[in-house]
Formats: sequence, structure tokens, C-alpha cells
Amino acid sequence: MLFKTAVVASVLYSTLYVSGATVGVRQTDPEAEHWPPHQPERDFCAPLAWQKWVSPKEARACLTSVSVGPINKIRDNIVEVVSKTLSEFHTTLAYEKRTSSPYDVHVDLDEEFARIKRTRYDSEWDLHLDLSKTVKKLKNGHAVYINNCYDSVWQSFLPTPLVLLTDNHGKQNIHIAPEAYSVVLNAFPDQVDFWQNALPGKLKGKLSSLSGAKVLKIDGRDPWDAVEASADVTGSYAARAPRQNGFFGSYTQGENGFSYVFGNFAQTPLPKTDSVTLTIQRTDSNKEETVTIPYRARHVSDVWYWSDKASYISYRCEAQPGTNGFDIINASPSVAAVNETTPSISTFHQQPSIRAEDRKAHALSVLVDNDIRIEVPFEVKDEAGVAKALDLGPVPIGRGGPAEFYLLNDGKTGVLSLGSFSSSRMSFADYSGVLLIGLQILQSSGATQLIIDVTNNGGGFICMAQWLYRIIAGPKTETNRAGTWPTVFRAGDLAQAIVKTVSRDGYDPGADLFYNPQRWAYSNTTTFAPNFDYLARTEKRTINGDKVEFGSQKIWDTCFDWQVEPPAQRLFDPKKVAIVTNGRCASSCASFAIPLAKREGAKTVVVGGKKGIQQQYAGIVGGQVLDYFEIDIEVKSTGLKNHKLAPPDFLVNGFQSISWRLASGAVNEKEPEEFQNHAAEYNIPLTLANVNNPYAIWDEVAKTVFRR
Ligand SMILES: *[C@@H]1O[C@H](CO)[C@@H](O)[C@H](O)[C@H]1NC(C)=O
Ligand SMILES: *[C@@H]1O[C@H](CO)[C@@H](O)[C@H](O)[C@H]1NC(C)=O
Repeated sequence: MLFKTAVVASVLYSTLYVSGATVGVRQTDPEAEHWPPHQPERDFCAPLAWQKWVSPKEARACLTSVSVGPINKIRDNIVEVVSKTLSEFHTTLAYEKRTSSPYDVHVDLDEEFARIKRTRYDSEWDLHLDLSKTVKKLKNGHAVYINNCYDSVWQSFLPTPLVLLTDNHGKQNIHIAPEAYSVVLNAFPDQVDFWQNALPGKLKGKLSSLSGAKVLKIDGRDPWDAVEASADVTGSYAARAPRQNGFFGSYTQGENGFSYVFGNFAQTPLPKTDSVTLTIQRTDSNKEETVTIPYRARHVSDVWYWSDKASYISYRCEAQPGTNGFDIINASPSVAAVNETTPSISTFHQQPSIRAEDRKAHALSVLVDNDIRIEVPFEVKDEAGVAKALDLGPVPIGRGGPAEFYLLNDGKTGVLSLGSFSSSRMSFADYSGVLLIGLQILQSSGATQLIIDVTNNGGGFICMAQWLYRIIAGPKTETNRAGTWPTVFRAGDLAQAIVKTVSRDGYDPGADLFYNPQRWAYSNTTTFAPNFDYLARTEKRTINGDKVEFGSQKIWDTCFDWQVEPPAQRLFDPKKVAIVTNGRCASSCASFAIPLAKREGAKTVVVGGKKGIQQQYAGIVGGQVLDYFEIDIEVKSTGLKNHKLAPPDFLVNGFQSISWRLASGAVNEKEPEEFQNHAAEYNIPLTLANVNNPYAIWDEVAKTVFRR
């Protein structure tokens, strides 16, 4: 069945390809005589078509062989698109030159891009590895470079996600997750035999006996070396603690129950590594044993739109209709119709995919990662580490989208397990209704205190965060404004020129452009007049020695005129609300958690993390996320593509996301919230009894945090 779909798709695709657009590199390039380069006869991609699982080496053979054009031309094109998008529109670039504790970001991207432009790469794959790593130095999950030709096409997995456990004496050790075997059996049943047979000697066929083993060394070194090496390069969070925590296996609330998150050790977006060697001590054994475990690379989709190298390049690597923007004001609709045969950037958003109409109507703040989040159904285990069926755990008293509601056995603690501030299942209005009704049910069931578990919550709709804040804390000055906090735009020459054009009378009557004044408001919920040129007045901030122009007009969201009637009274005393996370609560999650903690006194709890490191309960605040494709629509629709600061079109199937608006502090409005401290008040160590068992964690939070 799968095979048939794939064949049909591939036939369909080749038809599309023949008639479809390709990039005009080949004829016009001055280096054309070197193009296409001499290539071996062998096609390293063709054997991988319709194979769900391959070895990382096989995936690399394909990925290192593909290219879109002469390497220097491709290099310069990507650098120009990325650097112009970031320097003109990304709000925190100058801050990211040097941050202070707990943040450890210090990168000068101008210097980095100059270095890349001087470098000769052997392949576009090598160029991609360098570019991806370089942009990740921003450690900002809102400013991520992705190339669909490489990122997450083949994600590499190990059957041994790791966890960090604290023992009875308070000593910490890294272990293979006690749940590792049952997770892998559940997630990848067709690969278990492969890994069973790959184990050495007497361990062959005994993969399950590795679960829970203490890890003494990774590739011959202290396991913490591997954690820190990963935290150095993984990006996403500006503080170190959440990057360390991201190395380990954890969970998130998905739309079908809990979903397992393998972590940066056991899941990687690029098939760079073939295997890992672990020195372990299995449970109930005193022996040290050394095992080498191969990674397996998993093709991201179950449908193949390509069948060989040529079709791989034209489908995944060359610029697609959704790569570069188009003029939506002056062009005919047919030009504007994008056919999403290739994954859009939303695939890389760390939230459920949302409806197109919601994307236009509701601003997003969401973490972006080149590692696509996959749904791995996860059963919670009992104290002995045995997976138990979900129906043996507490039964949620309500659920909808990535939200579940529980009442704990104490009869007074309600739990909202919240995986995202958006849902793929329902509209914005319906999801806001679910959150309200769920909390009201908890309240009427006797809950007087509330745990909100936002472990691995990557954000979602900005106004959903304001909505949840409003219904919990009740009507008051801070919750009745147009949004959570004021934000500002960068106001370089190009951004100013765009707003000047969009605010001309009748230019964009449907408010289709993101810079349209009608999309923004004053704090008092009055929207801007359609002809308000709100970037005309600017202020220069001196940041790390750079003078950077921002608009001086404060920009508020339009989080009002709710489609669901908000309650007249607060649902919970915010001081009796505890926000629980592994530190990885970002974007809209941060814009919910931070005001609730800083303004209203909600308690903040981080579960797990390295001893002695101050844990952060939220991070990557931003203000709103946009990307190059959306910016390019703004540029082209205002006739400014020829402006000297405008990024050119991508020649490759690339993405660059940005933190487009920057939020002021929840309390200290003089500084952006992004680089203020979000130290967690409580830290609960992970043990064999509670690791990746949200039910046990919630019981512990209820007993310890709400006591005083
Ligand atoms: C997009 O592709 C699908 C399948 O190939 C096709 O049915 C559909 O009409 C296309 N849409 C547009 C707008 O071209
Ligand atoms: C809201 O504030 C703006 C800017 O200060 C002002 O022009 C407008 O009249 C106010 N709206 C209301 C309804 O008070």
C-alpha cells in the first residue's frame, strides 16, 4: 500500500517537475563550464527511495552527492539571504554579540559570515553543516537556518535515550532511560531486531537489559563531556541549563496523550554519526561493559516524492514555490497559490501544525528547530519502571488538543498538562474554549490549586498565552490590555520603507501584510489607523557598542474581542498556581509563564537538571516569530525587492526564521524580557521513581510546593 502511494507520488512528481519551475542557475552562471561537476556514475540516492530506515552512512552518501549549483555561488547566495534577513529584521542580533549570566551567547555573525565567504567547501553538505552550526551560535530558537535538502530528511536515532538521575545520597549519574526499551518497542518496532543483533557477545538480543544502566563513559570519556559538547552547539535556548536538559529523554503533552522526546543524544537532525560507544553498568550488575550502538536514520515521511538523485535535488534541494515570497498585492492569485508539496517551515515549528487561516489571523511565537519533533506515543510507567497502560494511571477529566486536565488524589490539586499554545485539531476559538472549560471543570470538581505542566512546550499563538493568563488571573489592568506586553520592531531603512508604503491610503485594504498598521494596537485595545506610519519615529539603542534603530512606537498585539466570553472572576489564585517544566518552555509559553510568575506570584518549578546550575523556568521570549519567506512577501508586495538591503531570492530550499518583534519586560519594561533572569524558585531532582513519570512529578509538586 505504502509502495503504491510512493510510486504514484513519484510519477505525479516527475510530471510536475518536467513542467515545473527550476532555478535558472545552470545557463546563466559565469562558472557554468564547471557545472554540472564531474560526478560518479553511481546514484547514491536512488537506493534509498522507499526505504524508511537506512544507515547514517547511506544517507550521507546521498546528501554529500547532491548540489544545486556551483558551490561558491550557492555559498554567497545563502549568506546574503540569511545575513540580510537577520541584520535588517531580527530584533536581538546586537544583544547576541555578548550576553551576561545566565546567558552565554557571544557571536558576531558579520565576522562569521565573512569567514564563511572566504571558505572553500568541498560540497554543499559541508557548507550546510558550517552555516547551520554558525547560526545556532545565536542560541536562539527563533533565529534558525534550515535547508530542506538536509535537515531532518533522515533523522538519526539511538535505542538508548539517556536521563540524569539523583540517587538517595544526592549524587547524580547519567543512566540509559529506564523506559528506553519500551519506548523504542513502541515507536520503532521494525528496528528493534536490528539493534538487538547489533549488540556484542552475550548482550546480543538483550536490548531490554540495557534500560536503566548507569552510563560511565560515552565514547571513552566522562559522559558530561558529551552533555556539554551538545549544549555548546545545540542552539535553541540562550541559557545553558535548558540546553543541557535537552540532551536527555523527556516527555511532552501531545494531541494523542503523552509523546516521548528522545533528546539530543538519541535523536539528531543530520546523519553525521554512525555509532556511539557506551561504557555501562547494568542494573543488578557490578561489571563494566562496553557496547557500541549504531544510529539508524529514519526517512521523515512515509511518502516519497523522489526516486533518485535528480528528483531528490529538484524536490528537496532547489528553491520551491514556498521558498521565496511573492507579491500578494499586485499579482494575480494564481501566482500566489503555493502548492505545498515540499515541507514548509511549519514542519520545523515545535508545535502541532496549524490551519492556514489561523496562521494569517493569529500571530505566532514558537520555537523553530532543524530537528523535527515527531510524535512518539508514550505510556507512563509505574514505580518499578514497568510500562503500564495509560488507563491504569489517573484518568484525565478533560482533554482537547495538546491539553489534558487531571484532578490529583488529594482532591484539591488540579493539573493542566499543556503541550502547546496551539492545536492542529481545532481553531483558535475552539482551543481557547477547551482551556476555559477544562479549568472550570477542575474548579467545580474542588480544585483550589493548579499545576500547569509545560514541559517541552514550544509556544504557539501569542494571544492564546494572553487568554490563559486572562482566564486564570481574572480581569485586571494587566489582563485587559491589548496583549501581554508592549513590543518593538527593528526600524532599519528597509523596514521603514515597507511601513511607509503599507500605510499609504488603500494600499493593503485586506490587511494581508504583517506590517499593516491595522494588525497592531495601542495598549488600550484601539487598533492603529490604517494610514499610521508607525516606524517613522525611531530611537537608537546602543547595544554592545552597536547603534541599533528600533521603532519608538510601542506595538501591542490584538488579543481582545475574544470569541469565547472570558469569566468575570479569576479561576485560581495565581499564588496557588505552579508552573512545572524541564526549563524548556519557550516563546508563547514564556510569554504566559513569565507574567504569571513575575506579576502575579505564581510558583515556578524545574524538574531535573545538573546540580549546582540555576535552572530557568522559561526562555526564548522573543515577541513574534516570522521567517524569510514571510518577510520576502512583505518586501515584494511593497515593490522593494530592489532595495539595497533586501535579501535576494534563495537559490536553495532554505528557511531563515527571525525574532521579528521584541517584547519589553513583564515588570522591568526598560529592558527586553528576553535577557532578564527567569530563575526557577523550586528544583525537583529526577529519581528512578519519578523520571519521565508526570503523575509522580505532579504528586511531588503538590506535596512540596503548595505546602507553604
Ligand atoms: C497541488 O498539487 C496537488 C497534487 O499534486 C494538486 O491536486 C493541486 O491541484 C495542486 N494545487 C495547486 C494550487 O497547484
Ligand atoms: C487609545 O490610545 C490612543 C493612543 O494614546 C488614543 O489615540 C486613543 O484615543 C485611545 N483610545 C481610547 C478608546 O481611549
